[in-house]
Amino acid sequence: MEGYRGFLGLLVSALLVGFLSVLFVLIWVLHFREGLGWDGGALEFNWHPVLAVTGFVFIQGIEPSPVKLTYPCYTRDLWGHYGNQLAQRDIAIIVYRLPWTWKCSKLLMKSIHAGLNAVAAILAIISVVAVFDYHNVRKIPHMYSLHSWVGLTALILYVLQHGFFVFLLPWAPLSLRAIIMPIHVYSGLLLFGTVIATVLMGVTEKLFFVLKNPSYHSFPPEGVFTNTLGLLILVFGTLIFWIVTRPQWKRPREPGSIPLQLNGSNADGMEGAVAISSAHSMDAADDEGAARKRTLGLADSGQRSTM
Ligand code: HEM
Repeated sequence: MEGYRGFLGLLVSALLVGFLSVLFVLIWVLHFREGLGWDGGALEFNWHPVLAVTGFVFIQGIEPSPVKLTYPCYTRDLWGHYGNQLAQRDIAIIVYRLPWTWKCSKLLMKSIHAGLNAVAAILAIISVVAVFDYHNVRKIPHMYSLHSWVGLTALILYVLQHGFFVFLLPWAPLSLRAIIMPIHVYSGLLLFGTVIATVLMGVTEKLFFVLKNPSYHSFPPEGVFTNTLGLLILVFGTLIFWIVTRPQWKRPREPGSIPLQLNGSNADGMEGAVAISSAHSMDAADDEGAARKRTLGLADSGQRSTM
């Protein structure tokens, strides 16, 4: 894999910054705010940023499978000969990086992939339930802010998009998949960016609401600390964007794959082409099965296929 060390460095940095963001949001609510609880009051509101950042930013950020690592391994080829082959493994999920997972079954890896998606969505939904409940108890109107409009739209689209890809796409005709994949890739990135913007708006709103004495503009420690949290989230997003948009870290075409040409796509399938693996992107990682699989499409236009 080209620039493998650079990739690893960026991946570790992204994980570190993402982890720090989660830590910072926890310190914010536990140290600077009242803490956590489910009482309809401020403690319940505090679950909102904690779960939003953990699920919708951190887990959603590390979850996609945008790139594949190609690595040599001793395995059997198409014709049953043993020897050093190139095998592939999704690398965006940190657990995939651990060598002991490389022999795990495809079912397990798919379950982890689907599970992380589900966890991200569930945490985001609970975070929104917490703030709705808080507004109900305090008799604060719902959905009046730009933050809430953008945030709820992003959440609904995220759930719809993943529901569609998990339950409907496998049965869709190839031609439809060819049209949808680039949109899926694009909307995945767009949603992630939108979530980061939503979080930054939410953090700023909250600081304006609560920092009265001393006020936000007098640089109180909570304001400086939380501004730093916002910067960390921005850096996390920047790193993830960079990783998933590097062409050299795109998933390589799999052996035996047939480029699926759409109007306007080139031979490499880089523009407008689709990456559809017959058994979803993770399947290719199975050492024995990968070469035999009937792969339908191919060059990954998308760095961020969550299939
Ligand atoms: C309110 C979504 C992250 C602060 C809301 C509401 C929604 C929402 C739908 C409206 C609740 C209602 O009207 O009853 C989201 C989503 C987030 C997110 C999807 C994740 C991306 C955050 C973060 C903070 C925050 C990290 C930081 C503290 C607030 C505040 C309110 C609020 C202060 C109440 C004021 C308002 O309605 O705008 N959020 N939020 N949000 N959120 Fe978020």
